[in-house]
Amino acid sequence: MPPRIHYAKIKYNRNIGPGFFRMLLACPDAAREARPGQFIMLQVSDSTDPLLRRPFSLCGIGNDTIEILFRIAGRGTSLMASWRPEQIVNFIGPLGRGFEIPETAQAVYIIAGGIGIAPLLALTQSIEQNKTIPDTCIFFGGKTAEDVAVIEDFKPLSATVFTATENGSQGFHGLVTDLFLNHLQHQRAADIDRTGVFGCGPQSMARVLGAIAGKHSITCQLSLESMMACGVGSCLGCVVKTQTIQGSGCQQPSEPGSFQYRRVCAEGPVFDSRELVWEGE
Ligand SMILES: Cc1cc2nc3c(=O)[nH]c(=O)nc-3n(C[C@H](O)[C@H](O)[C@H](O)COP(=O)(O)OP(=O)(O)OC[C@H]3O[C@@H](n4cnc5c(N)ncnc54)[C@H](O)[C@@H]3O)c2cc1C
Ligand code: FES
Repeated sequence: MPPRIHYAKIKYNRNIGPGFFRMLLACPDAAREARPGQFIMLQVSDSTDPLLRRPFSLCGIGNDTIEILFRIAGRGTSLMASWRPEQIVNFIGPLGRGFEIPETAQAVYIIAGGIGIAPLLALTQSIEQNKTIPDTCIFFGGKTAEDVAVIEDFKPLSATVFTATENGSQGFHGLVTDLFLNHLQHQRAADIDRTGVFGCGPQSMARVLGAIAGKHSITCQLSLESMMACGVGSCLGCVVKTQTIQGSGCQQPSEPGSFQYRRVCAEGPVFDSRELVWEGE
């Protein structure tokens, strides 16, 4: 079904921490279609400032609602922070390719950096509802304790949560990828084999996470944060370099060792980490 514009009523727009907001939107049609890992392109202004819609991942999917978690970053998100319940807003979506939970997974590791936690909360919610995977761990990193405090607002989660901060103000002192690697090194190889890894965060984090997964031969799905103009596959402004791997679902025929540029908004934002070819590789 082609993406279309949905009009939604704001149920709440709650400030849950310094610069962080949770916004619940009533929109039954979009909620029915939505999958964890997908995003919406939200119109943030009635004027031309800003002109372009802004992308936001779904952090929650209900029967009649979708939810986003956003952090004030600039003009658009500052305007969004002033929105009130009952206000009508519009968005295009749900868009993009979401996460796929491997049928054989017995455990799931979720690794999030900063606001990258948003799509992974919807994934956690979906895993909890399906009740098929007994063991879910979230590794959540930020610069400071304030960055990781947002997860408190989403409890109770049945997942075990480990936090890391770059300044050491909460949890592990250092990068979330180092915290995850420490954890992995204490797991049995047989358990790692039945584990699915899902990540979202800044590009540097995604790259390291992909390398860790590759080294341990774990399936890893990464949701990429890329700059987007149209969000619907038209402008080609969001492309990333990829290579075809077996079972990736990519239909384009390609020679071994050849590359393709693929649109994060249309073929992503979720990619198998083995598909991604990073700068300098
Ligand atoms: C698929 C996708 C999902 C996203 N999901 C979320 C989410 O769930 N919650 C959330 O808070 N943010 C999310 N973002 C980022 C969000 O779209 C930007 O923060 C937002 O567009 C900034 O708009 P602005 O007008 O407030 O800031 P601007 O004035 O446009 O920019 C302010 C700063 O934010 C940076 N920025 C702008 N767009 C992006 C972007 N796409 N990625 C990274 N940095 C950006 C700019 O470089 C600049 O430094 C997502 C981005 C993508 C591509
Ligand atoms: S943002 Fe335009 S093609 Fe992806």
